[in-house]
Amino acid sequence: MNSTVENKIDNTYLFEVAPYNPVILDHGDGNWVYDVDNKKYLDLNSGQFCLSFGHNDKGLQEVVLNQLKKIYHTNTSTLTPEVFKACKDMADITGGSLTKTMFLSTGSEANECAFRYSRFLTGKNTIIALKNGYHGLTLGSQRLTMSGIWARLMNNEKEAFIESYEPKDVRSQMQEILREHENDVAAVIVEPVLGVGGIVVPDNEFFVELRKVCNENNIILIFDECQTGFGRTGEWFAYQKIGVEPDILVCAKAMGLGFAVSSVTFSKELAEKIEGKIIHFSSHQNDPLACSIVSYVIKTVKEKNLLERNKTNGRYLLDRLNELARKCRLISNPRGNGLMLGFDLDDDIFKKYPDIYKKFQARMLEEGVLLQAVRRGQTYRLLPGYLITKEEIDFLINKLELVSSEIA
Ligand SMILES: Cc1ncc(COP(=O)(O)O)c(C=O)c1O
Repeated sequence: MNSTVENKIDNTYLFEVAPYNPVILDHGDGNWVYDVDNKKYLDLNSGQFCLSFGHNDKGLQEVVLNQLKKIYHTNTSTLTPEVFKACKDMADITGGSLTKTMFLSTGSEANECAFRYSRFLTGKNTIIALKNGYHGLTLGSQRLTMSGIWARLMNNEKEAFIESYEPKDVRSQMQEILREHENDVAAVIVEPVLGVGGIVVPDNEFFVELRKVCNENNIILIFDECQTGFGRTGEWFAYQKIGVEPDILVCAKAMGLGFAVSSVTFSKELAEKIEGKIIHFSSHQNDPLACSIVSYVIKTVKEKNLLERNKTNGRYLLDRLNELARKCRLISNPRGNGLMLGFDLDDDIFKKYPDIYKKFQARMLEEGVLLQAVRRGQTYRLLPGYLITKEEIDFLINKLELVSSEIA
């Protein structure tokens, strides 16, 4: 506890990117965080979806400390055994033809890298994304994020967007884009579950159809599993659940436990065509520290059987949310996959009172629950740490019931 610090935002020198929660955190433990007045909050988003094993994980501290004492960063052309081990560990959990990995820093960087290699490999320019997909906010990735709403640049690179996620519409939409872009399409990037887009789960058939159209037109299929990867949905990767293997797999977040770690894994076939060519190169490529963390995450998920646990606890949380939605008017449409879930504030209520989310969030915070909204406050994502307990889930449901019945 840090009683010398005031529990409010001091923006004298801070550049405010967005409105911040009005509490200042002091420390964390498991799925809980504590503010400077020692009030505790259940963290339903595992930090920014990164802390798979919760806050203050002792195993991670040991791994990081050991690596810090040994070697944690090298020049980009010089490697350590940790890198080879992490690459092999990745190949073990992907299992199929996705066997060649490079490690980077953030999700945006990994997507930039995937786009760059796709354009290089195919000699084509256009990348297609889903209309409400999120792939980061660096200049390249943001052009494919939510239909490029944040900014657009003028150059040769082009984007196009798939508007309908219905399996029956895949082929016609792709054909139209191919026609419009004169077949100049390098890749399609998809999130298996759209996270920032509002926990949207397209039908498996959507991806099956997309894979077929990509094969027929020599288009690279990229799965962005920055949120869904590393066990979140109850499989190592959501593509395994869907039964469609991408050509390039991008991961971040849960694999780094709060450290900036991401990865790009290429199919063997693609890798053979591009290995050794400097298309992407960066300061934090294949850092030994990042790689030792990735191997620790993979080992721990296996040892603690966390894929099964995520399936079971995900089902329990979804059942309890459905039960709540039947009772409380404000809570609607619980949905998701494994331990990547979400719900909405009721559409009719939200349209009539668009500011209702402010009250909802403030009261949830007062009751000790830390939530984060998307879709202007209407949708709440729940991606807790993998070690969340049934008691913690019940705590969330009781607080949701209390606050929503009070407000509605
Ligand atoms: C699916 C997906 N891709 C990419 C990103 C960007 O990752 P980063 O913020 O680490 O650049 C995110 C971040 O939320 C994401 O959810």
